[in-house]
Amino acid sequence: MAFFITFEGIEGCGKSTQVGLLAKRLIGCRMPVLTTREPGGCPIADAVRQILLDPANTALVPRAELLLYAAARAQHVSEVVVPALQQGSIVICDRFTDATLAYQGFGRGLDIELILTLNQVATGGVQPDLTLLLDMPPDEGLKRAIQRNITSALGHEERFEKEALEFHEKVRNGYLQLARQDARFCVIDAHGDIDTVADRINRAVDKFIATRKARP
Ligand code: TMP
Repeated sequence: MAFFITFEGIEGCGKSTQVGLLAKRLIGCRMPVLTTREPGGCPIADAVRQILLDPANTALVPRAELLLYAAARAQHVSEVVVPALQQGSIVICDRFTDATLAYQGFGRGLDIELILTLNQVATGGVQPDLTLLLDMPPDEGLKRAIQRNITSALGHEERFEKEALEFHEKVRNGYLQLARQDARFCVIDAHGDIDTVADRINRAVDKFIATRKARP
């Protein structure tokens, strides 16, 4: 039973931890799982990630940024996501096309129709079956993200964390707008300890799997 789950949310919402926990749980239930992330997920896309998230790249213009996300995605979908789905895996991806709509579209103000077209080109039409949107106010998320960067080796990946709070408010509201428009979204309250949030995610995923199994 191959399907594609994506995690989305603002900086510091706890996605990456929850991706790991969900994968561990599904693997424990003997399901074949592949976890991956965007931007990145394979060597070429990881190289693009370094350009995108390097805080020294202040000269990167929004349209170039958009095209780099699309380029990384095209490689990642072809090299990783599609083969894994074809082999019957559950693919769990930390961010995907909705991140481009939320950050480059609602955050930066780039044309949503253009982004939809580029997403289509980059993915060849591959879409998530379930999108878990971990929601929390940006001031709380940013505090966590900044703390994480101080304590981890990822300190150089902070370009978006330097954006004003107003930018992150736009991103959050953009995500919530996307969620209202598409039934594949499930909005998860990202407040609370890791286990509490994991329980909410598990309930949503179990419900999704049950619906899938019930399909004729
Ligand atoms: P991460 O911190 O969740 O790994 O995501 C990396 C950053 O890239 C994060 O600030 C959000 C940003 N991003 C976009 O702006 N557009 C995109 O399409 C994707 C996938 C990520």
